[in-house]
Amino acid sequence: MLKNILCIGAGYVGGPTMAVIAKHCPGIDVVVADVNAERVAAWQSGEPPIFEPGLKEVLATCLGRNLRFTTDLDAAIPRADMIFVSVNTPTKTFGRGAGKAADLRYWEKTARSILQHANGHTIVVEKSTLPVRTAEAVERILKSGDGDARFDVLSNPEFLAEGTAISDLEQPDRVLIGGAETPQGRAAIEALAEVYAHWVPPERILTTNVWSAELSKLAANAFLAQRVSSINAVSAICERTGANVLEVSRAIGSDRRIGARFLGAGIGFGGSCFQKDILNLVYLCERLGLDEVARYWESVVTLNHYQKRRFTERMIHAMFNTLADKRIAVFGFAFKADTGDTRDSPAIEVCRELLAEQAFVCVTDPKALPAARRDLAGAGPRLSFTEDPYQAARGADAIALLTDWREYRELDYDRIHAGMARPPFLFDGRNLLDAERLHDVGFNVYAIGRPELSRL
Ligand code: UDX
Ligand code: UDX
Repeated sequence: MLKNILCIGAGYVGGPTMAVIAKHCPGIDVVVADVNAERVAAWQSGEPPIFEPGLKEVLATCLGRNLRFTTDLDAAIPRADMIFVSVNTPTKTFGRGAGKAADLRYWEKTARSILQHANGHTIVVEKSTLPVRTAEAVERILKSGDGDARFDVLSNPEFLAEGTAISDLEQPDRVLIGGAETPQGRAAIEALAEVYAHWVPPERILTTNVWSAELSKLAANAFLAQRVSSINAVSAICERTGANVLEVSRAIGSDRRIGARFLGAGIGFGGSCFQKDILNLVYLCERLGLDEVARYWESVVTLNHYQKRRFTERMIHAMFNTLADKRIAVFGFAFKADTGDTRDSPAIEVCRELLAEQAFVCVTDPKALPAARRDLAGAGPRLSFTEDPYQAARGADAIALLTDWREYRELDYDRIHAGMARPPFLFDGRNLLDAERLHDVGFNVYAIGRPELSRL
């Protein structure tokens, strides 16, 4: 039975995952190490550096009992029986594979630290999403030492989505554990399965070989993103034909073979995973000489860029082909509701385009304003921020709703309408609002994949 778990990387994945493990496994000591001292201090204080519903409550059950955060990685490594690695693996911005391949420098550095400080037998678990066959490289590094430390490498990809991380971890559809098909590999898989068995029913714990686990993670994200791009492609047809994408997605999703989820048309997917993982898959296919397969998956990302561009083009066209000196209130900057995360948020691209058209842009968001300020740093005096959506919309020519925060549904749109310039426009990039009612209030409403409701 395992006694000590270490996780390297206290980010969106490492922090919540370890908190849930610590909560359900009081007999295991869980330590999370991170190079970022500020982050560590925040986690350790019980006020996590990320916003995630339910996270603070889970932390409260185990912080100081069997969960702690530290910057002292070197001291934590030799004590651990099992080390999860969830450091970030961004897309490479340089050299071979730039723009597609994953930048594995943090991973390799981490593997070398483990090799240097580990003793006895340690199970190393890949939590970060990694290119297929990374485990092999990690294993080679770990076996390059001349000490007597022994290692097993497992792949245990995380499927949690931000905003629902805690419920995804508490009731996962499945837990996937990939390991070597040897007696030692199977024993390592069993040790990790026992950790999850504290709260996950056994039939939901799937075991595979390492490569299947690594590929399943990339493929799962590619499938989900492909559904979003598919419905967004349909939304473009809807806008030209008078079909309504809400009706079409309901009709498609009622087919049990297709299913209703991830058929929400919008301004395009964002987040740290979808684009990065698909590009990773594309790079892998290219390296394997599978060009047709590479182009197939790449089109999912191409369509996503098209959808973002289409949104701003529709705005420009509707507002008499010029946005110069017009005021646009941007409702929501996070890549989805219930998170302060803006990594790869479609709002970044949309706001940049609006600013390039010389509009005045005022961004509001309940959780993501600090990140938004960083993302749009240096944009100049036409850009402003406010926490108050009413203030953002005061005197504005248009509202562009970019994140599906529930609170935007509950705003007093009569009041907002009264304070706006004439004619007032509303571009709903998430199909969140009641378009007909807002049209009755007096807005010219443009929702994704639906005919415009305009008085002009
Ligand atoms: C996760 C996965 O790990 C990544 O592979 C996936 O594609 C996206 O989700 P996430 O938890 O969201 O990453 O990343 P992030 O919030 O950036 O957290 C990574 C943490 O690792 C950071 O706190 C960073 O300080 C830490 N880190 C990074 C280290 O402790 N050491 C390093 O060498 C590099
Ligand atoms: C995703 C995967 O869902 C998760 O399993 C994996 O571990 C990490 O990547 P995440 O990026 O946190 O999670 O959020 P997700 O809910 O998948 O949304 C991704 C993007 O797609 C968001 O920008 C969201 O707004 C968009 N989306 C989602 C749509 O535009 N329409 C939909 O119907 C669903």
